[in-house]
Amino acid sequence: MKQELPTIPGPIGVFDSGYGGLTILSKIREALPQYDYIYLGDNARTPYGIRSFEIVYEFTLQAVTKLFEMGCHLVILACNTASAKALRSIQINDLPEMDPARRVLGVIRPTVECIGSITQSRHVGVLATAGTIKSESYPLEIHKLFPDIQVAGEACPLWVSLVENNEAEGDGTDYFVRKYINELLAKDTQIDTVILGCTHYPLLLPKIKKHMPDGIATVTQGELVADSLKDYFRRHPEMDAKCTKGGNCTYYTTEAEEKFIESASTFLNEAVTVQRIEL
Ligand code: DGL
Repeated sequence: MKQELPTIPGPIGVFDSGYGGLTILSKIREALPQYDYIYLGDNARTPYGIRSFEIVYEFTLQAVTKLFEMGCHLVILACNTASAKALRSIQINDLPEMDPARRVLGVIRPTVECIGSITQSRHVGVLATAGTIKSESYPLEIHKLFPDIQVAGEACPLWVSLVENNEAEGDGTDYFVRKYINELLAKDTQIDTVILGCTHYPLLLPKIKKHMPDGIATVTQGELVADSLKDYFRRHPEMDAKCTKGGNCTYYTTEAEEKFIESASTFLNEAVTVQRIEL
């Protein structure tokens, strides 16, 4: 049975398939510390990047529905895979029926907006999950704004699993970081800017920087998404009024709580408490 959604102001929802969205959440909280947040990680079903459109859409819609039921009026999909595969369908087909006044925003558009002013060669690379690369969302969004930029993409199927399994700093990880960077750069030797199009990848940044050739800019998303959200609130005072401001953040996971606490504290550099929920 359809549940009535709470109408009083509530926290901002931040969703990811796992821990990756924490890299976005921490930058959003730095930029907008006054708001309340709920972070939801679907750790039990991560990774999403290898799943079909239908499944990513189904899982993401379940998460968004849950966050709305928990009182959020605004949900950020802090996950490129969900942004690429589910955001548009949710915005166009589901929101009008669930509540046309609620909003779901993604991370791809805010990321590509800055690309035109970074690349000199007009050749850009994207490293992301297989799902995001296959969706062609990055080339599509980049070409809407900058039709002259050439875009090459490379799927990095193992990177999310390495991060989720606390291997971001492991010795074996170097091999896979080097491999996908080299494969991307071999596709287009003029690339001067590489987008890390997955919210898990900032955790691999030390190794990515180590293996990225000099002169190539690496773009991460956290600050870009945070700036874009700030701007969104400036343009939408009606949504700002629906977001509570107590400076709190609560965490939910679909996996075991102990596992989340252990990994999330390395992502955030602070201890967190978390509650397990079912979607
Ligand atoms: N962190 C997510 C992204 O930005 C998804 C990783 C996954 O679940 O495969 O794409």
